Amino acid sequence: MIILIGGEKGGTGKTTLATSLAAKRALSGRDVLLIDTDVQGSASYWAQGRDDAGIKPRVACVQKFGKGLQSEVQDLATRYQDIIIDAGGRDSIELRVALVVADKAYVPIQASQFDIWTLDRMEDLVASAQGFNPNLHAWVVFSRTSTNPSVHEYQEAKSILSDFVNLSLSEASICDRIAYRKAAREGICVDELKPKDAKACDEIAALYTEVFSGE
Ligand SMILES: Nc1ncnc2c1ncn2[C@@H]1O[C@H](COP(=O)(O)OP(=O)(O)OP(=O)(O)O)[C@@H](O)[C@H]1O
Ligand SMILES: [Mg+2]
Repeated sequence: MIILIGGEKGGTGKTTLATSLAAKRALSGRDVLLIDTDVQGSASYWAQGRDDAGIKPRVACVQKFGKGLQSEVQDLATRYQDIIIDAGGRDSIELRVALVVADKAYVPIQASQFDIWTLDRMEDLVASAQGFNPNLHAWVVFSRTSTNPSVHEYQEAKSILSDFVNLSLSEASICDRIAYRKAAREGICVDELKPKDAKACDEIAALYTEVFSGE
């Protein structure tokens, strides 16, 4: 399965979720490849850090850019059980191509009005991609939400989202927790962090189950 974690807004937690899902998938024994399509290279640094620290299982990661991405991903998909693509926080050729090859796309957003506004464009990008990739399904996942949630903000965001046709709302939602930052720094996912943050583990487990359901 090819999963894209992408979106036009920067800093929403895309790389955090892509690396977390990749590590968790590898821990479950799957042969997973993380594809970093962002020139910032954060996912690659994460994977390199994991390698340098000798953490097993290894998470294979490659950087790929440009138009050739489509055929490269399709080729790599024959060699790996799962592919997770991290696409940078802007409208890019990589984001558009990844939408054309992905089975599922997850767009992390923070539940603020400024982030919600960027979804109009994502709705259009998903619609165009579906012209070539009719099986593409796309979800918005609330990310970095406050652990003292403003129920009002969340409900408002949910109601705005109900107007979108091509974007569904993920049942999972990820809070802003120090555990995610620590794990990212160490090249691991929250399941591998000691001591464990049970709430972070539960949040990622819920997202993981949703993403890989039926696989
Ligand atoms: N759930 C979270 N809790 C706490 N910190 C988080 C969370 N998600 C991300 N962060 C932190 O927020 C910053 C941005 O996260 P990340 O790099 O994952 O976002 P991104 O969407 O990939 O950004 P970019 O658009 O630049 O690629 C990082 O410092 C990361 O550690
Ligand atoms: Mg990133």
